[in-house]
Amino acid sequence: MDELLRWRPEFPILANTVYLISHSLGAMPRRTRDCLMEYAETWESRGIRAWEEGWWQMPVTVGSLVGKIIGAGPGEVVMHQNASVCQSLVHSCFNWTGKRNKLVTESLNFPSNLYLFEGLERIGARVVAVDSLDGLTAPLDGMLAAIDEETQLVSVSHVLFRSSAIQDLRAIVERAHEVGAKVMADLYQSAGTVPVDVRDLGLDFATGGSVKWLCGGPGAGYLYVRRDLWPEMRPAATGWAAHKNPFAFDRGPMEYAEDAMRFTNGTPNVPAMYAAKPGYEIIGEVGVANIRRKSIRQTELLIGLADEAGLRVNCPREAATRGGTVTLDAPEGKAVTAELARREILVDYRPGAGIRIAPHFYSADEELELAIREIRKIVDAG
Ligand SMILES: Cc1ncc(COP(=O)(O)O)c(C=O)c1O
Repeated sequence: MDELLRWRPEFPILANTVYLISHSLGAMPRRTRDCLMEYAETWESRGIRAWEEGWWQMPVTVGSLVGKIIGAGPGEVVMHQNASVCQSLVHSCFNWTGKRNKLVTESLNFPSNLYLFEGLERIGARVVAVDSLDGLTAPLDGMLAAIDEETQLVSVSHVLFRSSAIQDLRAIVERAHEVGAKVMADLYQSAGTVPVDVRDLGLDFATGGSVKWLCGGPGAGYLYVRRDLWPEMRPAATGWAAHKNPFAFDRGPMEYAEDAMRFTNGTPNVPAMYAAKPGYEIIGEVGVANIRRKSIRQTELLIGLADEAGLRVNCPREAATRGGTVTLDAPEGKAVTAELARREILVDYRPGAGIRIAPHFYSADEELELAIREIRKIVDAG
């Protein structure tokens, strides 16, 4: 008996779609509709008073819901529009022109991050992107060897988006701290499906968004900054919401807020935070440890079914090093994915990886069996 299937009625799309794409866009919780109505009613009835009645502080109050999922303390996470903004905000805390100007990452990092690192090179950073030897994983030895006394920031994915391979954040943080470097982890593909505890890992910064495993929809990225670093972190990419006293409209010099609002910038994305809350609450209620237990069972089931069907598996086979997604390298993967969508089975395709299939806590085993059966049929039909 799969206890977690009782959540299915909370996600309306599951009634008529085989939804195996939560690594890309998690299913919308039923409660989200009510939260968006609440947003409209608050704006309609409270008008400008809504700011002081909760809207202004939402980056921190909603951030605390994410904080619970990733092991941060209350008030230690702030919300932004997306993870790319959070990355730039952190980059802007550093001087990239000194001797310690190296940024270490993996070549399989998400492209948005790689573009940002490229931008940093224009202002003095030396970027070292450690190559993958197998196209699926980032070699831990290579990562550790690249981190040295000239490294300012190590910016890595927890789970690689293309292959779902998990990186050893603990080893990376340990090495970085040994040489005085800081670590930023991109938790986008782990938070909500792979347990992560930012404080226990000793991470300096962590970011991600809500579109995927957190079922929070677009427009709600989050940023964690280790609390003891707050006083020395003075983002150049800032704004009036980060000021200690924003409504004084002071001309400057900038005085940063003492709480996590110091890591915000301008007007918060209020409707996106209303929309995102139910996802965080549900993931919190279900519990990431329970989600992970089921995810390991179902990704193993998927791998077994793919093996039986003669489809090549393109993600780590060992559960401990695999996130929530199974990647299959089927011929004409893009066309197969489109045909599956016509059959109401949603998965996606990434060049260089293949068909990505992501069960979440609300997925039923029969849906996985159906998906693999249909992929085999479509491939055979050519
Ligand atoms: C691992 C990872 N990092 C970053 C991003 C980009 O995040 P955002 O669009 O919130 O900037 C994504 C989006 O798919 C992702 O998968």
